[in-house]
Amino acid sequence: MKILITGGAGFIGSHVVRLFVNKYPNYTIHNLDALTYAGNLANLSDIEAKPNYKFVKGNIVDNDFISNLFETEKYNAVIHLAAESHVDRSITNPIEFVMTNVIGTVNLLNAAKSLYKKDNTDFQKFYHVSTDEVYGALGDEGMFTETTSYDPHSPYSASKASSDHFVRAYHDTYGLPTLISNCSNNYGPNHFPEKLIPLCINNIKHNRPLPIYGKGENVRDWLYVVDHARAIDVIFHTAKYGSTYNIGGHNEWKNIDVIRLLCKIMDEKLNRPAGTNEKLITFVTDRAGHDMRYAIDAAKLQNDLGWVPSVTFEEGLASTLDWYLQNDEWLTNVTSGNYTKYYDGQYASR
Ligand code: NAD
Ligand code: TYD
Repeated sequence: MKILITGGAGFIGSHVVRLFVNKYPNYTIHNLDALTYAGNLANLSDIEAKPNYKFVKGNIVDNDFISNLFETEKYNAVIHLAAESHVDRSITNPIEFVMTNVIGTVNLLNAAKSLYKKDNTDFQKFYHVSTDEVYGALGDEGMFTETTSYDPHSPYSASKASSDHFVRAYHDTYGLPTLISNCSNNYGPNHFPEKLIPLCINNIKHNRPLPIYGKGENVRDWLYVVDHARAIDVIFHTAKYGSTYNIGGHNEWKNIDVIRLLCKIMDEKLNRPAGTNEKLITFVTDRAGHDMRYAIDAAKLQNDLGWVPSVTFEEGLASTLDWYLQNDEWLTNVTSGNYTKYYDGQYASR
């Protein structure tokens, strides 16, 4: 099987590429990525020389490029992760999110459709990786299930909701064999330090303030990125076409509690007196349209396909912190001017 994974140089994509390249030596894996500020080939240095792996630089918004690529490579499957992924950026620059997340996804769907059921091709599946943010926000009670109505509030979640609708429309209208998963917040190695957890790890390292939006009461359901990649593997190989799966770790935390826990563990790891890092916590103006609570009901995935998370939050957080402390060069690089050499044209703004 020749699989195109998009966004493989990003946070989650790099873990998915690594898993597939190592676990399935008989598959050929192409990683298509535009290398925006969030894409970093250093994330894949351990597998870049493997014979079943190839990097393809390109932008999913470029329809001619995408259709030529599919025509030439005749992929058997797509796992689509490329996206603009940061809510705060979507608030300042929504159009970029429409371009990549909506137009880019439709370009890929069109290219896949043109291969599907064409002579001499064997296009088998289009797997779209999405987010629980499409469901909107919860109050104190309840969880998102696969049948929860879409109710996105940020330009990011609206663009992802739109892309999910297009994927379903291509299944229902053209019979394209599609799969969708909606996952909760991920954390782990290679997470770009603009998102809450890696931002705070980096700021603690440098004794900088930890900006907590509002009162820090918002709740997120955190999943270790390697477990998300494992779920994608299971869904890709065993889910029924046209189906949707929620992925989550039943691991809800208020932001302020996550950051207090981080501060405590990092006091110990950095040999600072207990309570030192907590003093860095700074409450700042809330994010516009800030969703109060996300929580995933992953029972369908567990019952149908047998997936459960492999690590607890404490274990995942400890290995994440160790990774960031041991990979100072990665962190310095992505937060420094040197990193701009990886940037690409219009996407170079930070
Ligand atoms: P990321 O921002 O770390 O990586 C995105 C990758 O896509 C980068 O490598 C970037 O270079 C690439 N990319 C962006 N625009 C592109 C374009 N126009 N053409 C080609 N490549 C492009 O994102 P992530 O956190 O790894 O998220 C990956 C996917 O998972 C996204 O679709 C996101 O919506 C979804 N998701 C993320 C989370 C999370 O917590 N991070 C949770 C659920 C779902
Ligand atoms: P984030 O990592 O941006 O993920 P998402 O918005 O997709 O859930 O944010 C996680 C939570 O942390 C969210 O409730 C917003 C909050 N947050 C802060 O309080 N301060 C920050 O500097 C950031 C980036 C996020």
